Amino acid sequence: MRRPIVVGNWKMHGSRAENTALVEHLIQGLDGRQAAEVIVCPPHVYLQEVVRQTKDTLLHVGAQNVATEPSGAHTGEVSAAMLKDVGCRYVIVAHSERRTLYREDDAMVARKFRAVLSHGLTPILCVGETLDERENGTTEAVIARQIESVVAVAGIDTLAHAVIAYEPVWAIGTGKNATPDEAQAVHRFIRDRIASRDGNIAAGLRILYGGSVKAGNAAELFAMPDVDGGLVGGASLKGDEFMDICAAAG
Ligand code: PGA
Repeated sequence: MRRPIVVGNWKMHGSRAENTALVEHLIQGLDGRQAAEVIVCPPHVYLQEVVRQTKDTLLHVGAQNVATEPSGAHTGEVSAAMLKDVGCRYVIVAHSERRTLYREDDAMVARKFRAVLSHGLTPILCVGETLDERENGTTEAVIARQIESVVAVAGIDTLAHAVIAYEPVWAIGTGKNATPDEAQAVHRFIRDRIASRDGNIAAGLRILYGGSVKAGNAAELFAMPDVDGGLVGGASLKGDEFMDICAAAG
C-alpha cells in the first residue's frame, strides 16, 4: 500500500503572520484521522519558523528549491545540507516554474535531485508537458525524457527514496485541471516505464498529480489507481480548502 501524500506549494506567497495563522489552522485540522502525509513548502526564508511551529505535529515541511552545489561561492543559493539543518524533510525539484522561468535544464535537475538525496531528504521530482507538447502528441516522450535524464545520473534505485509529481504545465495555476482519466493515463505510463526497470520500485513509488487541484476535484483525481495524492499550489494557501483536499486523499 502506498501512503498518499498531499503537498502544499506556497510558491512566493505568505508573511510571518499569515503563515502562523495558516499553519495553526492545519495543525488543528490534522487530528490523525487523515491517511495522507501532509507537507507544506514555504519560501526558504520562512522554513525554520514553520519547522519550529510544526514540531511534534502531523504536519511536515519541505522546500521549494535547492542549490546544485554543496557549498561555496554561490550567492543567493541554499544548499541541501542547509535545508536538512533547519529540519526540512522534502524538497520540490524541477517545478515547471523553475524549468521555464529559471532555465533549469535536465542536467541541472539531475544534480539537484542527487544533492537532495545525498542529505537524506526526499526529492519531489516534477515532470509534465506543455500544452504544445500535449497537442503535438509528445506528452509521453517529454515525460520519459524528464525521468530518464535523472535516472541516468542518479540511478534507478534512487526512485525508492523519491516522489514524482506529474504536473501538466497547462494545468498549473490556470484553473483547468487534467481530467482524472488524463491524469491516470500519464501516471500509469510513468509507473509502467519504471516497472520495466524495477517492478518493486515502481509498485512503491508515490506519484502525485498537480495542476489546479481544488477541494472540488481532489476526490475524483485521488480515486484513480495510480494517483497517490497531490501537489497543490493556489488552494494550499486556504486553510479549509487545503484540509478538504487532505481529507480527499484518504
Ligand atoms: P496550482 O499549482 O495548484 O495553483 O495549479 C500547482 C503547482 O504549481 O504545484
